[in-house]
Amino acid sequence: MTGASAGIGVALARALAQRGHGVTLVARRGERLEALAGELSSAHGIRAEWVAADLAVAAERDRVAAEIEQRGLTVEVLVNSAGFGIYAPFASSEREREIRQVRLLVEAVVDLDSRYVPGMVERGRGAVINLSSTAGFQALPGNGTYSASKSFVLYHTEALCEEVRRHGVTVVAVCPGPVATEFQEASEPAFTERIPKTLWIDAERTARDALRAVDAGKRTIVPGGPAVRAFFSPGRMSPPAVSLAVGRRLMSKELER
Ligand SMILES: NC(=O)c1ccc[n+]([C@@H]2O[C@H](COP(=O)([O-])OP(=O)(O)OC[C@H]3O[C@@H](n4cnc5c(N)ncnc54)[C@H](OP(=O)(O)O)[C@@H]3O)[C@@H](O)[C@H]2O)c1
Repeated sequence: MTGASAGIGVALARALAQRGHGVTLVARRGERLEALAGELSSAHGIRAEWVAADLAVAAERDRVAAEIEQRGLTVEVLVNSAGFGIYAPFASSEREREIRQVRLLVEAVVDLDSRYVPGMVERGRGAVINLSSTAGFQALPGNGTYSASKSFVLYHTEALCEEVRRHGVTVVAVCPGPVATEFQEASEPAFTERIPKTLWIDAERTARDALRAVDAGKRTIVPGGPAVRAFFSPGRMSPPAVSLAVGRRLMSKELER
């Protein structure tokens, strides 16, 4: 499970451990992973391992996969939660950072899904939880690469869900609106200040709704209930002229950066 040192990844790790799953925690900050692994194994009596790695780097992903194999672990549930976002106009954003964002949000997800889904299909069971976002419901000026990456994850996940469902494998795209995590500190989105506080949810609710969606065999979930869905889902159905105009207004602070 990636992104397991903070936010939604930690909440999902806790929720899976509570259900008795062994976990393998992956992110860059090893000390946090080690502490969480210790907490989960003593609280739930499960196997908890960790591998510190930068998943935006292909060779690091190879190393994670080699570690998993060497430790004799089978990936029964794959969670792709590692992520950050760039909230600035593309023309003034740093090229390397833009590319790193795509490598983490898109390339790493395809890589890990590609490594572990075939085994699930072969065994006739398994689950994949891919973190997309309501940002992926439409193109967002001032957040273009992030919204496009999350849109990629959404479509990739939905198609994969349809392909592997008949083999007993569940694949779900989790599309949260704003969730109070370290994401706000790491990625500094400004538009979220404009989202009513009632539409914010916490990481625990996100994890709970994500696992419920897996249990129900859903392909897509907007965690947080009807009000959150009502606020964000129109983006997915609106014509681009409308969603871009709304996005431009919503992201006006990002566009001034
Ligand atoms: N929070 C929101 O409002 C929100 C809304 C919609 C979607 N999402 C998506 O949900 C996912 C989880 O976000 P969050 O809210 O939990 O954010 P978070 O609290 O900032 O956690 C992000 C996680 O990703 C890991 N990560 C970042 N860069 C990495 C890299 N290069 N290699 C490996 N791990 C890396 C971080 O660990 P290290 O720093 O230790 O590497 C951390 O564990 C993301 O994909 C995000 O885009 C979040």
